[in-house]
Amino acid sequence: MTPMSPLPVTKAVIPAAGLGTRFLPATKAQPKEMLPLVDKPAIQYVVEEAVRAGIDDILIITGRAKRSLEDHFDRNFELEYYLAERGKSEELAEVQALAEIADIHYVRQGEPLGLGHAVSVARKHVGDHPFAVLLGDDIMDQRSRVLEAMIATHMERGSSVVAVKEVPTDELSSYGCIKPEAIDGVAAELVKILDIVEKPDPADAPSNMAVMGRYVLTPEIFDALDEVKPGVGGEIQLTDAIGILLQRQEVLGYCFTDGRYDIGRKIDYLQATVQMALERDDLGPAFEDFLVRLVRERGLLGDT
Ligand code: G1P
Repeated sequence: MTPMSPLPVTKAVIPAAGLGTRFLPATKAQPKEMLPLVDKPAIQYVVEEAVRAGIDDILIITGRAKRSLEDHFDRNFELEYYLAERGKSEELAEVQALAEIADIHYVRQGEPLGLGHAVSVARKHVGDHPFAVLLGDDIMDQRSRVLEAMIATHMERGSSVVAVKEVPTDELSSYGCIKPEAIDGVAAELVKILDIVEKPDPADAPSNMAVMGRYVLTPEIFDALDEVKPGVGGEIQLTDAIGILLQRQEVLGYCFTDGRYDIGRKIDYLQATVQMALERDDLGPAFEDFLVRLVRERGLLGDT
């Protein structure tokens, strides 16, 4: 059922059409994907991750306020002139490199009908090729090789591959959740997905393995998306289309543990910002000193 020699994965789709209501008022006039983590907008981490995995063609699905996204990955001659004049060569190189990072395309979702619908509008651009989907609420550490490993798995087996991670039971209702089955003779990180449910009640969840916003999908997903009826929240869910796909061809879960930052909610976003700042060579040590001082001053560790 799956193709004999899988095509390489050179395209990625990044849905960025959500309204970002959890981050209002910051997202009133800019997409949430432009919120910075330390000094880079979230979407830049996602684009860089795709590029690291060998992808050079990126389709960003936008909604309203797409202008800043486009501007971010475009030349800015005025700024470049200013930086060049003042001899700020490092900043200049960084700004220029952003416009060369990949072939970036934009398409509008039109109506916000859900993640599955956002992916379906990529059909024409993606064509008859496997492709990656990267969701911006999940940011991967620069050292993460999850997407590369997922693409390598697709190349070996021709299957769609979904990134999954174990989460506590009380968090399952925020995620797609899979029913995994071990496969003999393959790497332990890989499981066969027997079923997938969007945002289950934890009592009914098929396991604690939750979908983490990285997918490598075969183009057959588009037919499945056409068939899907509105699901959780009245939206066209990608999870439901994957549920149809796995009845027709093998869909694998790639299990990983580390290197993922959640930025979907304010508290997660704050935690991710702190963690990422601590990881930075240029900021980490000074920031750590500050945090230690803060903890002491506020007596956060009690008397111990
Ligand atoms: C989406 C998907 C869900 C997945 C999650 C990962 O949900 O629908 O299956 O587990 O991303 O972040 P959202 O966070 O958009 O509600």
